[in-house]
Amino acid sequence: MNKPGLLMARAVFPEALARLRQHFEVEPNDDDTEYGFDELSRRLSGKQALFSTAGEPVTAALFEAHPQLRAVCLMTVGYNNVDVAAATARGVLVTNAPGVLTETTADLGFALMMATARRMGEAERFLRSGQWTKWRYDLLTGSDVHGATLGILGMGRIGQAIARRGALGFGMKVVYHNRTPLAPEAEAGIGPAGARWVDKATLLRDSDHLVLVLPYTRGNHHAIGAAELAQMKPTATLTNVARGGIVDDAALAAALRERRIAAAGLDVFEDEPNVHPALLELPNVVLLPHIGSATEATRRRMVDCAVDNLVAAVTGGTPPTPVNPEVLPLAPWLR
Ligand code: DGY
Repeated sequence: MNKPGLLMARAVFPEALARLRQHFEVEPNDDDTEYGFDELSRRLSGKQALFSTAGEPVTAALFEAHPQLRAVCLMTVGYNNVDVAAATARGVLVTNAPGVLTETTADLGFALMMATARRMGEAERFLRSGQWTKWRYDLLTGSDVHGATLGILGMGRIGQAIARRGALGFGMKVVYHNRTPLAPEAEAGIGPAGARWVDKATLLRDSDHLVLVLPYTRGNHHAIGAAELAQMKPTATLTNVARGGIVDDAALAAALRERRIAAAGLDVFEDEPNVHPALLELPNVVLLPHIGSATEATRRRMVDCAVDNLVAAVTGGTPPTPVNPEVLPLAPWLR
């Protein structure tokens, strides 16, 4: 029997390709070229499955152009590049990689928040540029993390993992806002004082360090813009490890320039890998190239998760992490 065709949207670990080749005719992307819509569509011709990394435009038009496409499996937890409704309408399986990157991304989120509060990017640039000539009482003074109020916008798995680090490791008071409050046991599990649901205005007003961990949806576009930044304390920091587009980068740059908030830490950007030029000019923002989940072990787990889903889809098993479980009764997709 012919193996189904699989397009790799980006490069991955060679071991993963070897495993996939047992089940698929694989078109790899060893050069790691980023395919725009036209190239992606051209290469998908005749293929039943796509391995995606959340950067590719997997739109309704793509599904329409490729009725043979049956499965889109992502190695990322975020899947805002995929039109899931269009996939579901056509019975196409979409899977992501939740769970496997929670603690790693929480580590980075917490580290970025600390680097932001303690001005570590600025301090390193100061030292490297030879400006450090003496100790001084007010040299690069930042704000405390321990004992401060940690605000979390988006209390999913990663949000809760960051909250636990703050509450258990740093004695922080945790407030959060989410569409749905956590169950009381989950709130109590965050730390000795638990975590408290507050409305968004209270979160903005009370947080010393606000961390964004909510998924990107159209409704969350610019969830933090000029109006929200205006409600924050002038001493507050803002950290975004979620997705670009949740923050209005131009409004943030203006707030940072005018010191309406103290500092920001950003791992994600509206037009990444392009960074708003105004942000690049500012001293009080720590900028990272979307490395939230970037440890070797976690990246391997993320790839493996996508591979597990693809293998299950092709062998008639149950894909472990479907985004649209309503299509599961349509299995097998790829035989
Ligand atoms: C994800 O999994 O969505 C991350 O942003 C990738 O690092």
